[in-house]
Amino acid sequence: MADYLAKNACQLLDADHIAVKHLFVEYARLAASPDAPNSQAKRTALAARICDELTVHAQIEEEIFYPALRRALPDAAGLVDEATAEHQEAKQLIADIRALGAANAAMDTLVAELNVAIEHHVKEERDELFPKAKAAPALDLNVLGEQLRERQQALQAEAVPAA
Ligand SMILES: [Fe+2]
Ligand SMILES: [Fe+2]
Repeated sequence: MADYLAKNACQLLDADHIAVKHLFVEYARLAASPDAPNSQAKRTALAARICDELTVHAQIEEEIFYPALRRALPDAAGLVDEATAEHQEAKQLIADIRALGAANAAMDTLVAELNVAIEHHVKEERDELFPKAKAAPALDLNVLGEQLRERQQALQAEAVPAA
């Protein structure tokens, strides 16, 4: 997701949330007509993209955003613990989706489950974690946004298959 406008940490993470939501909507649209031309190939590619993007997103949150929240907001530790546990659940679903390889009815079910899990998780980040982060004087969300962006770009570059 190339982006030349500087975003603060919450804006950057929420832009990811919105982008992946669009991918889920597109997947569901394709899954509704599995016999349409190329539906299976498109779903296979979309599922891989959803898994890749969520994996990088969760990683930058866990490496940079969540630790910064823990340092600046000891009271938010419970919320961060809960969010981290939700990442683990999502990672299990992602592993299950990747293990299937090609899209089929089982993958459609898993992607729909992942969509619901991520929707719930994103709502908590948006409604509970981000407002706390924005209100924390010890957190510089612009600096944090820059760190997240750099790490995200490095991970995305690594993920490009070496041909
Ligand atoms: Fe997130
Ligand atoms: Fe998250």
